[in-house]
Amino acid sequence: MQEHVVEHADVSQPLLYREDSWGPHFARLRREDPVHFHPESPFGPYWSVTRYADITRVELDPATFSSASELGGIQITDQPQGEELPNFIRMDPPRHTAQRKTVAPIVAPSNLANMEGLIRQRTAQVLDGLPRGETFDWADRVSTELTAMMLATLFDFPQEERRKLTFWSDVAICNIEAEDAIVKTNEARMAELKVMAETMAGLWQERVAKPPTFDLISMMAHSEATKNMPTREFIGNFALLIVGGNDTTRNSMSSGLMALIENPAEVAKVRADAGLMPSLVSETIRWATPVIHMRRTARKDCELAGKQIRAGDKVVMWYVSGNRDETAIDEPERFVVGRPKARHHLSFGAGIHRCVGDRLAEMQIRILWEELLKRDLDIEVVAPPVRLYSNFIRGIRSLPVRIRN
Ligand code: HEM
Repeated sequence: MQEHVVEHADVSQPLLYREDSWGPHFARLRREDPVHFHPESPFGPYWSVTRYADITRVELDPATFSSASELGGIQITDQPQGEELPNFIRMDPPRHTAQRKTVAPIVAPSNLANMEGLIRQRTAQVLDGLPRGETFDWADRVSTELTAMMLATLFDFPQEERRKLTFWSDVAICNIEAEDAIVKTNEARMAELKVMAETMAGLWQERVAKPPTFDLISMMAHSEATKNMPTREFIGNFALLIVGGNDTTRNSMSSGLMALIENPAEVAKVRADAGLMPSLVSETIRWATPVIHMRRTARKDCELAGKQIRAGDKVVMWYVSGNRDETAIDEPERFVVGRPKARHHLSFGAGIHRCVGDRLAEMQIRILWEELLKRDLDIEVVAPPVRLYSNFIRGIRSLPVRIRN
C-alpha cells in the first residue's frame, strides 16, 4: 500500500494571517518537520524554520545567514531588483554595526526615563478622551494615536502632522495585492515614500544647520555613519524607523487589549501584585508577535537541524511559530502572567539585529496598561478585529470596542 503524505501548507500565504488561521499549520511543521523545505511558493522556494531553538541558531549566525539587501533582504518577498531600499536592518556587519550605533542612544534606558512623563501624560489624555457607551475603533483611537505621537516625538516631527507617519508606515509595508491595499503598485508606493523622503530631507536640512539635538533626524544628520547616505538608503532608513516604531507597537496594543479582556484572571494577578506588570507587558508582546517572520539568505552551504541548506537559499524564521513552540515555552497557547522567563520570546528577534526599540515599546505598553488598570474601564469587543493581509506584519486594522461604564 502506498503511503499518502499530505503536503505541508505554504505558510507564506497572507490569507492565513488575515484569517488568523496559521496556528495548526505551524504546529504540524514543528512536530513533523521543523526545518522544512517548500519547493514552490509565489516567492520562490524557501525553508521554514519553525522552532524556537532553530530560529535562535539562525539569528545568532549572521556570517552564514545574511540580511543583506543585495541578496534579497529580510522579507520572504525579495526586494524589487534595482528598486532596493537599503537600510541597516538589511545590512550585515560592519555597516550594520555603525548605523545601528547611531540611532541606539535615543532609545537607551537613560533617555527613556526622560520620556516616561510625556508618554504617560499623553496616554492619560487619550484614554480620558474616549467615548462612553458607544462603539469606537480602539486600533485607531488608542493604538495608532499613541504610537504616532511617540514617533513624532522621536523624530521631533510636527505633532499636528503625526498621522502622516502612520500613513507612510502603512504604505511601506502594504501588500499591493490585498483587496484593500492603500497602494496598488510598487511605483505608487515609491511615489508616496518619495514624499516622505522630501519631507524628512527638509527637516534634515534644518537640523544639519543647527547644533545636534536629541532626536533621530538630528542624530543621523550629524553622525559620520549616516550623514552622507545615498537617497535610496536615506528613504530606506526612515521607512525602517517609521515601520519599526509604529506598526509593531500599535498592533501589540490592539491584540493586547483583546488578551486582557479574554483573560480577566491574569489581569487580576497584576492588580494584586504590581510587580507582575513587566511580565504582563512581555506576555502581551509574545502573544501579539507583531512581526510574523524575518528572512535570511544562506551565504554558504550549511546544516540546520539535520537539513542541508545551500548557499543562496532563502531561510525564513517564523516568529509566530517560535513563540508558540511547546518545546521552549510552557503552555504557549495560553496567555499567562508570571511566566518564569517572560522576556524569553522571539517577538523582538535575537542577536545583532534584535529590535533596537524593544525597551521603548515595552515602556509604551507598560504605561498604557498601568493607566488602563487605574481607570478600571469595562471594555467589550463588539465585533471581530479586521486583520492585515500580510505575511510579514501581524496587524490589526480595526478593533471595534465599547466602554460600558
Ligand atoms: C528590528 C520587532 C518596536 C525599531 C526589529 C526586529 C523585530 C522587531 C522582529 C528584527 C529582529 C531580528 O532580525 O532579529 C519589534 C516589535 C516591536 C518593535 C515586536 C514592538 C512591540 C520598535 C520600536 C522601534 C523599533 C518602538 C523604534 C524606535 C527597530 C529597528 C530595527 C528593529 C530600527 C532594526 C534593528 C537592526 O537591524 O539592528 N524589531 N519592534 N522597533 N526594530 Fe523593532
